[in-house]
Amino acid sequence: MVTTLSTDIGISGARVVQRCDRLGVQPYSDLERGLFRAYLMPAHAATINTVASWMSEAGMSTRIDGAGNLIGRYEGHKPNAPALLIGSHLDSVYDAGFYDRPLGVLLGIECVAALSAEGRRFSFAIEVVAFGDEEGSRFPISMICSRAMAGTLTDDDLAGTDGGGKTPEQALDLFREWVFRPMHNIDPRSAARRSEDIIAYLEPHIEQGPVLQAEDLAVGLVTGIAGQLRFDVEVTGTAAHAGTTTMHLRRDAMAGTAEMLVSIETIAREIGEDLVATAGRINAWPGSTNVIPGRVTFSLDIRSGNMERRNSAADAIEQSLRAIAKTRGLDLSWTQLQDLASSPCDKDLSALMGTAMERAGHKKRALVSGAGHDAMVMSDLCPTVMIFIRCKDGISHNPAERVRMDDTQAALDVMLEFVTLLEARA
Ligand code: GLV
Ligand code: MN
Ligand code: MN
Repeated sequence: MVTTLSTDIGISGARVVQRCDRLGVQPYSDLERGLFRAYLMPAHAATINTVASWMSEAGMSTRIDGAGNLIGRYEGHKPNAPALLIGSHLDSVYDAGFYDRPLGVLLGIECVAALSAEGRRFSFAIEVVAFGDEEGSRFPISMICSRAMAGTLTDDDLAGTDGGGKTPEQALDLFREWVFRPMHNIDPRSAARRSEDIIAYLEPHIEQGPVLQAEDLAVGLVTGIAGQLRFDVEVTGTAAHAGTTTMHLRRDAMAGTAEMLVSIETIAREIGEDLVATAGRINAWPGSTNVIPGRVTFSLDIRSGNMERRNSAADAIEQSLRAIAKTRGLDLSWTQLQDLASSPCDKDLSALMGTAMERAGHKKRALVSGAGHDAMVMSDLCPTVMIFIRCKDGISHNPAERVRMDDTQAALDVMLEFVTLLEARA
């Protein structure tokens, strides 16, 4: 069993939590109150600059790739050895908690710091990867940065614009000036890695659900991640005077959308099992008290671990929305923005992680992730393995998100066991 180095030298799960908390406020947030860190915004650059200094302090060389991913590298016995990647993302949702994102990155840094303090190196290198976009909070698609690394980013993906009309490449052109070292290359496609250079991707993440807390467990083993579909739905009616247009002559895009949202919820509940459907963002135009809304757009996110269930739910929802639009004389545009297949974690590496959990004194509790993670994209490049860390009351994507320091220490202990077992297997 690997002994925990935390008490003597300050490397610990507690330090990971403290660092996450530090990254929860300005200048690491683009909001004055609350946390929002979108891809390639100033707070993202400030975060990279600080996290890079922690990487250097832990014994890693640092670089930023063409997609804005920060990468710290801890060499193996020999230079240029293939690497175990450990990572997660630095971006957040709007008004976020402090741990869905940097916890996995900072745990990776802590793991390397512990190894480096003991002078331990392996036949493989370790790279800690801090992805820039996972949540999709700024551009129409999510996981731009892991797609870039996995080499699956398409020209269409890069054509999407943010609310101000900028593409990711235009945003990179500004961002390059804010980070600690000049970015000579701002082509996200250049971030693609060769599979022969990578042995695996390990992602530690808070559970974002209530199971571990309910079972009084600090950590869990992720066996796979649910598949996601994202759509943009646009409902068009006629903007008209709210005082003069009688009710039966209206083409009210907002009232039609309200009926559609209830129908989405009804269909998802009827399908049941692990199927979930969410309209999380809505905009209405022209947005005046005395004008009937002429246009509404909303986002739709549909997930299930079972691809057939997920796809047939999407079909049923589309049909229902079209029927509602027809009855109300509205136009409907239904655009698919992304399709991320459900992604099982690698069986052999998960078995090794299970052994690491037992050796560190924890039960091997298997869980499926309903939340999306960079691991589901990285599985196109290399085998993936994930551990979950208990999350207070299962609350996430919310400032009330909390993680315990002793649970983070447990994750660190498991990770140190895992790299030791991986070396023994090599
Ligand atoms: C990210 O947190 C997602 O599940 O969309
Ligand atoms: Mn998230
Ligand atoms: Mn996350």
